[in-house]
Amino acid sequence: MIRINTVQHLKNHLNSFRNQGKSIGFVPTMGALHQGHISLINAAKSESDVVVCSIFVNPTQFNDLNDLAKYPRTIDVDSQLLEAAGCDILFSPEVAEMYSEAELELKRQKKEDKSWSEGKAVDFGSLAMVMEGAQRPGHFNGVAQVVSKLFRIVVPQKAFFGQKDFQQLAIIRSMVKQLDMPIEIIACPIVREANGLAMSSRNERLTKDEREQASAISRALFKVKDLYSIKNVEQLKALVENEINLVPQLELEYFDMVDAQTLQPLTSFSQAKSAVACIAVKIGHVRLIDNVLLF
Ligand code: PAJ
Repeated sequence: MIRINTVQHLKNHLNSFRNQGKSIGFVPTMGALHQGHISLINAAKSESDVVVCSIFVNPTQFNDLNDLAKYPRTIDVDSQLLEAAGCDILFSPEVAEMYSEAELELKRQKKEDKSWSEGKAVDFGSLAMVMEGAQRPGHFNGVAQVVSKLFRIVVPQKAFFGQKDFQQLAIIRSMVKQLDMPIEIIACPIVREANGLAMSSRNERLTKDEREQASAISRALFKVKDLYSIKNVEQLKALVENEINLVPQLELEYFDMVDAQTLQPLTSFSQAKSAVACIAVKIGHVRLIDNVLLF
């Protein structure tokens, strides 16, 4: 595996692969890698000649500076994991390589910087107004900003994203469509711990006890999947609230059953062709999200 830190160096390398007719698969990450990330590398390997993984803790998608500072950074272990998984290129740029001072200043002033769309009127509309978008103002703009930059640098044929971040996946699909980027977005299933907890870099910040307590989150979601055909939306919301409240360390931020296409909350299952149950829970200072596809 080659480790690259600069945009120019990466572009040069990828151009030489492209000139040999090789296809490029791309897995963007923020590091602190776990088996969820590695499953994306495996998917990329099976569908591309060359696999590029980026590790970049993107400052513009964090609205909480403390969360950004505490985000786990384990680049040496990550690099070994990627090498073992057969990744070809690790791109791990410094912040100054990805952002101009002017862009960072806009973020500091909490101003939404739309320059990433390069003059096209990109609008995520109601997709970005619910759930994570409602709880974390500016978050998806920061995600779109960095992913559009990375896509323009790497120019992959296929890019791989986890269903763990269901709303992020919808935003990326919408961005690629609105910007006419010729990139296929591939969704990969959620990888879980043995106790059901969805793998996440943020789990690193949980104690052993908290990891056990947090397993109630996926248990509640799987109960919803078992029961949605015999209970209504209101009953299921009450059930999940109850399950989470039974664990004193957990604080429910939201639980919604949404249309899998529009992400708008459902009041009845007959409103959607496909629905997904999405949840955000706080445990101590750590915020966890999870979801389960219902139908
Ligand atoms: P990060 O949280 O590091 O996640 C990188 C990718 O791994 C995302 O596509 C995410 O959905 C996927 N992933 C995380 N946990 C997973 C799990 N348990 N099972 C399957 N896939 C999982 O998402 C980001 O980084 C950033 O927002 C990024 C897209 C890199 C932009 O900065």
